[in-house]
Amino acid sequence: MITSWRNQGNQRRYDSSVLRRVAVIKTGQQLGLSLEEIKHALSSLPLNRAPSQEEWEQMGKNWKEILDQKIWLMTKLRDELGECIGCGCLSMSRCRLRNPQDTLADTLGNGATLWKSE
Ligand code: FES
Repeated sequence: MITSWRNQGNQRRYDSSVLRRVAVIKTGQQLGLSLEEIKHALSSLPLNRAPSQEEWEQMGKNWKEILDQKIWLMTKLRDELGECIGCGCLSMSRCRLRNPQDTLADTLGNGATLWKSE
């Protein structure tokens, strides 16, 4: 996610723009983004010059979409946690907490519904 170069004494050196990238990485982590998500966002920015205002804004929009999705998922999990309190089954076929990525559960039911229908 960052680049460096070495001087004649073999000491690693960083361009001043790297400080900004490190700040972006730390901010992304504070927002709960994974390093992979941050890396993906940084890949859209130039490595050897400061990003333009438009480039920062586009990256910010992409992060907002990711954060909106995470907030939606966490809110959904919080609201459905009530079913799990006192249960403890953590079943892949029926537990929303254990299987939060089951996006077809709302329309087809919990579990491997596509596999069942084949
Ligand atoms: S722990 Fe049983 S449904 Fe979630």
